[in-house]
Order: sequence, then C-alpha cells, then structure tokens
Amino acid sequence: MSSLQATLSDRVRAATGVDPELRPATKPQFGHFQSNVALRLAKAEGRPPREVAAGIIDSLDVSDLCEPPELAGPGFINFRLKPSTLADEVTALLADPRTGLVPTSDPKRVVIDYSSPNVAKQMHVGHLRTTIIGDCFYRVLAALGHTVIAQNHIGDWGTQFGKLVELIDEEGLDASQLTLEQADDLYVRSARKFEADPEFADRARARVVALQSGDAHTRAVWSDLMKISAAAFNSTYARMNILLTDDDLAGESTYNDDLPVVAADLEQRGIAVIDAGALCVFVEGFNAPLIIRKRDGGFNYDTTDLAAIRRRVSELHGERLIYVTDARQADHFHEVFAAARTAGYLPDSVSAEHVGYGLVLGTDGRPFKTREGTAASLVSLLDAAEEKAAPPVALAAIKYADLSSGINKDYVFDVDRMVATTGNTGPYLQYAHARMCQVLRKAEADGIPVGDKITELLEPAEQTLALQLSGFGDAVADVAENLQPHRLCAYLYDTAVALAAFYEQCPVLRSEGTVRESRLALCLTARKVLATGLDLLGIPAPDRM
Ligand code: ARG
Repeated sequence: MSSLQATLSDRVRAATGVDPELRPATKPQFGHFQSNVALRLAKAEGRPPREVAAGIIDSLDVSDLCEPPELAGPGFINFRLKPSTLADEVTALLADPRTGLVPTSDPKRVVIDYSSPNVAKQMHVGHLRTTIIGDCFYRVLAALGHTVIAQNHIGDWGTQFGKLVELIDEEGLDASQLTLEQADDLYVRSARKFEADPEFADRARARVVALQSGDAHTRAVWSDLMKISAAAFNSTYARMNILLTDDDLAGESTYNDDLPVVAADLEQRGIAVIDAGALCVFVEGFNAPLIIRKRDGGFNYDTTDLAAIRRRVSELHGERLIYVTDARQADHFHEVFAAARTAGYLPDSVSAEHVGYGLVLGTDGRPFKTREGTAASLVSLLDAAEEKAAPPVALAAIKYADLSSGINKDYVFDVDRMVATTGNTGPYLQYAHARMCQVLRKAEADGIPVGDKITELLEPAEQTLALQLSGFGDAVADVAENLQPHRLCAYLYDTAVALAAFYEQCPVLRSEGTVRESRLALCLTARKVLATGLDLLGIPAPDRM
C-alpha cells in the first residue's frame, strides 16, 4: 500500500517531469495538498507562474483521486482528495494486518548497539535514553522487515574489575549475594582505595592480569558480578517494556581474544604506529589518535570498538550499523568508523551511524543529579514517575518525553508535565486510544454494528482525520530511514488531536445507520493506528484509563 500523498505525487511528477514537493495544505479551504511546482518551473523557463500552473492543471488527469485541482495565489496548485478516495484508503488501512506499514523493498541486516550499561554499576539517567531510543529503532526497523540484531555492549571488562574483585576478597564478601547497589558502592570504594593505597593498587593490577589469564577464583567472582548485574538489568528492561534479552549481550569481555589480533593486524599493515610507546592510529581530522594498545600493553575502549565492528560485519553480516550513545561520544565513534574504513573492517557497502543524544536535565536546567551529586539512577527515575501515575502511564510519560523532544536536544525531566493527560504527552496518546476503546465497548454493549468500511466522510473533521491516518506508513518509514523518533511522536500527537476534533464535531454513537457504522469504523482505524504507533515507541496502550 502506497500512501495517497505518494500516489498523487507520482502522477504530478509524470506530468511535469519534476518532484511536485507536495505539502499538506495549511488551511482546509486550500484542500489537502499544495504544490509550488509551477512557481519553480516558471522561474526556470522564464514564464508567468500562473500560466505554467494552468498548463499543468490542464494536462493532469487525477480525476479518479481528486476534485479538479485549483490554481491559487501566485501559482500554487491545490489538490482536494475526493471523500471516496480517502474513505477507500482508510478502509484498506483498517483491513491491512500491517496497518499500512510497507515492508521495505531493501531489507537489511541492521545491527543496533544500545543500552550497554556497565557491570557492577547501576544504570543511570544516560542509559535511560539509549535504552528507550534503541528499543524504538529495533521495533520500527523490525516492523518494516529488516533483520535487526541488538548488541548490548555492556562494560564488563577492564582494570576496574581488578580493583573490585580485590576489594571483595579483602572484605571477605560473597559476590553472588550482593545487590547491584552494594556492588556499585564497592565499585566506588575500590576506585578510591586504588588512588589512596599503593599496595592495594599493586594487588589490583595483579588481579587484572589474573582475570585476563583466566584464574579460576578471579573469574568466578567476576562472573558472580556479571550475574547479579544482568539480573538487575533484565528486571529494569522488563519494567520498561524493552525487548532486550540475554541473547543480545555482547559485552566488552567477549572481544578479549580479538584485541591482540586487531592490534597486530593494524600494526603489521602500518595502519597503526608506535607513538610514545603506545600503538596508535592517527586519523585525519581528529585531534587525538585512537589508542590501540597502551604503553603498559593494555587495550582499551577504542580497540574494543574496532574489534566490535569487525565482528558485526564479518560474523553478524551487518549491513547497517547503528550506535546509540550520549552525544559526547560522537568523536570517538566517528574516529573509530574512519579507522575501520581504512583498515577494511568496515567496507563501503556497510553504513555506520552514530546517533548521539542530548542530556536529561533536572527542573533546575542542570544535568540530572542525585542529592549526593552523582548521576541519578534509572530506577529512581522510574520510581519518581510511578509515584505520580500507574506503571503503564508512568512508562508512557517517560518514554514519550524522551522520544518526542528530538534526540540531539537536551530535555528537562519534569515528572508533573510528563504524566499530564493533556498536551503533547504520552499519557494523552494513551488516553486517546483508551477513549476509542471505550466508544467501541459501548457500541458493542448496545448492540450497535461497527462497520468494516469507511463509506461516508461528510464532515471536514472526519476527512482531516482520515487523511491523517493514511499518513501512518510514511511516518514510520521516515523513522526507519532518518532515525528521528520525534517525528513519529509528532505524527501520533497530530492524530490524537485530529481524533479529538472529529469526536467533538461528529456524533458517533448518537448518529444513525451507515453514517454511524462508518464513523465507528473510523474510530476502529484510529484505535489501531494509535495502538500500533505506541507499540513502535515501546509504549503500552491500555484499553481503559
Ligand atoms: N558502556 C558504555 C557507557 O555506559 C557505552 C557503550 C556504548 N557502545 C559501544 N560500542 N562503545 O557509557
């Protein structure tokens, strides 16, 4: 199913030879779409625009879709769809098991790196965004027929685990019995002790070696920390309606054996060079080189990300790589991508995109912190929202606030605004959906037939709603391509607003006969679009509120 806008656009393009750039009309009296194609052509041909527009209108046959196109103002062409065209379109949407989502003609293997919290640490406010945004990408791309592979690149390796295991042993603790909060506290204390106590620091360094060389006890403690962390992450994912599972775990530790291989490969081919004792890749246009191997022989974050690209391309056969992290990591990823291209790990046929998100701010406009001054834990944010609303509504509030504000922008975590059921919020969309459920329940209870066809679109408000609903597939396809979920949020909000106007202006249960059947079918379609759209955002759509 191709959208009405696309069909009409193709027709006008066929007649004029150029993209008509159809825009939704700004006022109902201008019809449904407007094109400035005549103005552009007139300029190029040096002819009066109204004359060009009149010529186009004469040569165009869109009578099966539209009322006769109208010439307006300096040379705009206005198109008004026939009510029957709109009705047929929405009827098809209602019958379509895919709700107007068009499977991609170019299915890809898409690897998405998101969430990626750190072991033995609580997920913090930054992880809120990557988790929500990545989950939305997963849902949207999968819904359009791509093969999506999630990679939860958890921070489960590195020198911090030497410190942590050492302190756990020193304090005689059983790591399998720790809560994540306790592990997090130990993590902080072990880092402090490392700075303050040189003997502890030496033992912690020896522990890193023991961990890497597979010492049984050290590995066992580490693996306990992994288990308690994964369990805590999973319970947060479940609470947040996030699709990640243990199968998606691909932590830093899983690249351990690849790191020396990557370093040797880059060094042998002269892509990496020794500089002040460290093995580095200098990438043009970046201030600092990537450090592949530190002076002390250790590998780091850069090396792991190169190894990860290599695996994602050669083993997972990814064709589109997406990374969702804090915007402050943009340079890191762009440099890694460039080096991976040079090394041939990332061939030109594979795209790599870093989606960097902005900060979550407190109501004081500063980065969201706890009273102690550390980044707020994700769980505390969920708790705060659930103090104000039932869990599904709280979740809608949080996710929608996150997704609707534009990924690269900072936004304010203002619980009271987010949970409101009026205005541009998640709960407002849920409410619009629940209201349609309510209407349809009432119809059923009263034995009123609900049509499976939209037949009579008499009123402007129902036409506007129908046109809005017909744009759903395009809105979703746009997110798949541009990775900008706020546009799907805006689409759904506009839909809820059009629905409210329709419901206010057009009696549904109080009308009669075929008009009532058709209007109920329109309600059913609106409910379906809202439920599907919310699901793509990872937001539940309760039947009652
Ligand atoms: N663990 C990192 C953090 O919490 C994010 C990892 C992102 N993914 C990656 N491939 N580097 O900031």
